[in-house]
Amino acid sequence: MRIFSGIQPTGRKHLGNYIGAITQYVEAQERGDAVLCIVDLHAITVPHDPAELRERLYDTTAILLAAGLEPARCVLFRQSDVVEHSELTWLLSSVTAYGDLTRMHQFKDKAAAQRELVSAGLFFYPVLQAADVLAYRAQEVPVGEDQRQHVELMRDIATRFNARYGDTLVVPAHRIPPVGARIMDLQHPERKMSTTGGSEEGTIYVLDEPSAIEHKFRRAVTDSGSEIARAPEKPGVSNLLEILAAVRAVAPADLEAQLHGMGYGELKAGVARAVIAHLAPVRERYERLRGDEPALERTLADGAQRARAIASDTVADVRERMGVGAPRRSRPLP
Ligand code: AMP
Ligand code: TRP
Repeated sequence: MRIFSGIQPTGRKHLGNYIGAITQYVEAQERGDAVLCIVDLHAITVPHDPAELRERLYDTTAILLAAGLEPARCVLFRQSDVVEHSELTWLLSSVTAYGDLTRMHQFKDKAAAQRELVSAGLFFYPVLQAADVLAYRAQEVPVGEDQRQHVELMRDIATRFNARYGDTLVVPAHRIPPVGARIMDLQHPERKMSTTGGSEEGTIYVLDEPSAIEHKFRRAVTDSGSEIARAPEKPGVSNLLEILAAVRAVAPADLEAQLHGMGYGELKAGVARAVIAHLAPVRERYERLRGDEPALERTLADGAQRARAIASDTVADVRERMGVGAPRRSRPLP
């Protein structure tokens, strides 16, 4: 089974990214043929600093390797190194409904946050994301809850393409984890943890020092009452339980039973300890990997070469189906 996912090289990666997505990428190596892409072309759809984008790309690459991605067991690459993504975006735009793009939540949120310019790139972002996945004919896309709508859209795009031009693309399914698909901000547990929309105090970064992690959990907002249980009116405690369940790989319901009678202070200290233990080895490995940029470049270059071999095949089929470019004689379509 082919599994594909993408991650932006922007901001600092946080616990939401780690639990909702990165953990799943690492597991994907066990379950199938994993292809992971660091999406620098998506990152330029909002204002950015060019030099910082390069730094962040290396940061993200090193975090993924530190988390357990092994270049020998997956394809890890930088989106812009495989030009097929850009070409496929254009080809697929003709089977993408304009109306659907206007309804994308992420576009609406990000557009509302722009002060100067809402770029056409931001509007087209989901088409590029569809091209990312469809180029690899991936069956499965591990993501956090916030990407559900984008995966729905790529399914529609693939289905419309196949209906119009004949069976060519694989219609992918999302894989959203049952626990940890939407980690909330510790200070504002009604908002998702995020580098752009969250609070600094309420966001745990993968590379935070243990003392910072402890401090942020100690100050985490809890709810009225004293019961340790998940409930809509208890978003703070629910989030802490969800985080603990995810890092310990147990069911939240089991934790509720286990922690019955414990105070909120003790719960917060326990979650902090578990998260620190979970992230400490990642941070150590990161420090070693991040220092060697030429090695990171070599890893990405090798990944790009392998990615391109797959993507170019798909793009050739799509061009052929659509009647774009010279007809292909050597390898007839199935
Ligand atoms: P990004 O850094 O925006 O590229 O996101 C990378 C991955 O992390 C995507 O699959 C997101 O769905 C996931 N993600 C982002 N924020 C959260 C969160 N607060 N909880 C769980 N998953 C998240
Ligand atoms: N849009 C995704 C996010 O913000 C990142 C992404 C780009 C992606 N291309 C992808 C995710 C392809 C899954 C598959 O998190």
